[in-house]
Amino acid sequence: MKIHVRSGLYTLIPIFSLLLLLLLFPPGCKNYNQVDLYPPCDTVNISYSSNILPIISANCLPCHTSINQFGGVILDNPDSARIPARNGLLLKAVTHDPSVVPMPKGGSKLSDCDISKIRSWINHGEPVKQVKLFR
Ligand code: HEC
Repeated sequence: MKIHVRSGLYTLIPIFSLLLLLLLFPPGCKNYNQVDLYPPCDTVNISYSSNILPIISANCLPCHTSINQFGGVILDNPDSARIPARNGLLLKAVTHDPSVVPMPKGGSKLSDCDISKIRSWINHGEPVKQVKLFR
């Protein structure tokens, strides 16, 4: 049985059409936009356990636990973290206000989004809500 092999210019037609299609409709890239690359910083309904503790754990422990309470600051539970949150030291430390020692000590400044979350927690989260004695 003789196998018919197409040759010459005709073979190139599908290849050229494919190249032309790729040129006209390049794959990828078209779905990327600013929102995908820079997800917005969500600072609504910030709670200590879901939003603040992860930032503290990654950047502030073990220097600020009940055991290593450097500077008298304990950040590993919401009741203790409320104290520097309310007296302003927490925000001053993470925003590198010149009146306090910049935090995290020995590390790089927190991201703008993390700082915004901390600010939102201080202003709208547990620190301003009334402390309930019986829950
Ligand atoms: C490597 C240890 C270390 C880490 C990590 C660290 N701190 Fe501190 N922090 C200290 C020490 C030590 C002090 C006491 C001031 C001093 O001697 O530098 C302090 C003081 C503070 C104070 C009181 C500031 C003042 O001037 O009274 C705050 C608020 C604070 N830290 C918050 C944080 C926060 C928030 C983080 C994480 C983003 C953090 N720290 C990470 C060691 C640390």
